[in-house]
Amino acid sequence: MRKSIVLKSAMLLVGLVFFLSCGTDKKKIDYPKTDLTTSALIPKPLKMIATNSAFGLDSKTVIYTDQNNNGFQEVGDFLANKIKTRLNLEIPVNNTADVSVERIIYIHQTDTLESDAPEAYQLYIKSDSILLNANTAAGAFRGIQTLRQLIPEQSNDTLSEQPMWLIPTGKIDDAPNFEYRGAMLDVARHFFTVEEVKKYIDILAYYKYNAFHMHLTDDQGWRIEIKSWPKLTEIGGQTEVGGGAGGFYTQEEFKDLVAYAAQRHIQIIPEVDMPGHTNAASFSYPILNGNGKTLEAYTGTHVGFSTFDSRKDTVYSFLDDVIREIAAISPSPYFHIGGDESHATKKSDYIHFVEKVEKLVQKHGKIMVGWNEIAQAKISPSSVNQFWNEPHNAIKAAENGNKIIMSPAKKAYLDMQYDSLSKHGLHWAAYIPVDDAYNWDPESYVEGLSKASILGLEAPLWSETISNSFELEYLAFPRAIGYAELAWTPAELRDWNDYKKRLVGQVAYMNYMDINFYRTTLVNWEK
Ligand code: ACM
Repeated sequence: MRKSIVLKSAMLLVGLVFFLSCGTDKKKIDYPKTDLTTSALIPKPLKMIATNSAFGLDSKTVIYTDQNNNGFQEVGDFLANKIKTRLNLEIPVNNTADVSVERIIYIHQTDTLESDAPEAYQLYIKSDSILLNANTAAGAFRGIQTLRQLIPEQSNDTLSEQPMWLIPTGKIDDAPNFEYRGAMLDVARHFFTVEEVKKYIDILAYYKYNAFHMHLTDDQGWRIEIKSWPKLTEIGGQTEVGGGAGGFYTQEEFKDLVAYAAQRHIQIIPEVDMPGHTNAASFSYPILNGNGKTLEAYTGTHVGFSTFDSRKDTVYSFLDDVIREIAAISPSPYFHIGGDESHATKKSDYIHFVEKVEKLVQKHGKIMVGWNEIAQAKISPSSVNQFWNEPHNAIKAAENGNKIIMSPAKKAYLDMQYDSLSKHGLHWAAYIPVDDAYNWDPESYVEGLSKASILGLEAPLWSETISNSFELEYLAFPRAIGYAELAWTPAELRDWNDYKKRLVGQVAYMNYMDINFYRTTLVNWEK
């Protein structure tokens, strides 16, 4: 079966290539000169060579992919869908029946790239063909984001009878500097709907993010259905900062989000924050509470007052259920246990707790991730430490063999205000203007932490001051676009002045996506 599909694919491809090369009644198109190397690509690719002609994307173009059940066909479909909705141009995928084919985009699996990184890709753009080579479907998916960014907003309507969107020709060789390129959204302080979360994920995918961390629980709300402990959402899901109605995801909705992200080769990392940041859980089930105080629903923004009772067996039975139910609907290898700011937990209790919870996470087949405080406990080298504020704990974790996710609050927190006039956000760590957000290096930020210990970069967005997409986007954009480049592109290829120009090139996409980005005066948005 598989063999015959492969054979059929090969024959169709040979036919197409033959057709393109003999070009019977193909019209010669006099493409204008273009320069691939000045394209507004973010993240900036590793290597680019311009050949100064153009590929005319038009109604005579077809997409052709490998069809070996390796995910490449889905990548082709994704590209065709985006082209259809953006340009109103219908491009068939692996179907040439109704088209007089003059140009082809071929998305091809290969093991011969220079880089063996799973997300590496190579683009050969010629006048009548685009060849996208990738090791994996994830690599092909990153490659089509580059292609999407190369498609101009305006078509050229004079070169042929049908409109053409001119893509500059040349060659791109690309691979990510870090394997983990994440963004976090706090859906606990304020709830965000499935549609709002999907919009954010869709934009992140355009900039080659591959991880979306959901901070699902906190003092102010519990946002994921746990069937064996229903009050978590019946009670704990009904509150949020400021007294609003809150909300939660059913397991079906969470699975839908996971699938939506997976279609974009983004994994969702669920976080259940504990033993602190647990007022909503303990208010729902007071037996979990360990701070000895009478519980009330909490809709303020203070931290550090709540804790689970880390010496009570019921707490671990509860967590066994919670982790089991979430792990069962979460294909990511990672499960985030939070572990930050547990100021109401005695240190010895905190350490006992983290060590026990790590075992539960492992029992359910996941790798534990926790904020940098977890380095105080004795944890296995396979767990991951997320650095936000304590370099000494990041170093300690690295010495223990743990990989580090870099999220320094002073540089990478999307909820930090741009400046004192920012409409939303906080500034307890820093003001982070758009240039400061870009001008630092995750590889050298913590002295003594080597690149080998760094899994990647994540930009967290805490939601004390934001409650909808409009406010989310004001804080996230354009800074999240810069973090995408910090995670993908090596430091020696990054330059603020060059980046600034490419950022202006994102305005058409941001307007098309109706992104409420912050128009910093550091960037000259008018071209
Ligand atoms: C954190 O900002 N409390 C991780």
